[in-house]
Amino acid sequence: MDFVTVFENNEKWIKEKLSTDADFFKKMAQGQNPEVLYIGCADSRVTAEEIMGAKPGEVFVHRNIANMVISIDLNVMSVINYAVDFLKVKRIVVCGHYGCGGVLASMQAADLGILNPWLRNIRDVYRIHHEELKAISDEKKRSDRLVELNVREQCINVIKTAAFQKANKERGLSVHGWVFDMSNGKLVDLDIDFTAKLKDIQEIYNLQ
Ligand code: CO
Repeated sequence: MDFVTVFENNEKWIKEKLSTDADFFKKMAQGQNPEVLYIGCADSRVTAEEIMGAKPGEVFVHRNIANMVISIDLNVMSVINYAVDFLKVKRIVVCGHYGCGGVLASMQAADLGILNPWLRNIRDVYRIHHEELKAISDEKKRSDRLVELNVREQCINVIKTAAFQKANKERGLSVHGWVFDMSNGKLVDLDIDFTAKLKDIQEIYNLQ
């Protein structure tokens, strides 16, 4: 992709938007009111808005390596707090994807330098679910399962936050775990009951 094409594409896009709605950019400049916070992987193939068919203004997006929600990561924590307290989103999604490079790297015996502390959080997910994962002999199936378990654990990290717990109580903010399967383009809802999970973890992580 050369950058001349990028700016030509941009001009085409402007014309296309204005041809369907002359006030498109005027409306866009007035502000945003997204109902969904999407936390996904930075992988170039998992394009949040495109796979959801979302329009500009509909989804507040945060992406990092392996869709992690780490309590001392100022970036993701700022995104969550801003989206919940100021944008008043109604739903939070954590979306992983099969074949995630970050997840695969965490399964390797290798010193990856500055990536080590980041990937350590995925290794921690592996450790929590070690019994289940070690019973899966097929490596692809094992990494696919780790992708799902990682999404689940990152959703749990969302519900551990004070911002989530408060908004859940006050206005029913919910969290959802999804996985994108790029072999067929399908978005899969892991259908995890986080209402029950919140009750469960609040025995320890209750911030209300
Ligand atoms: Co990934």
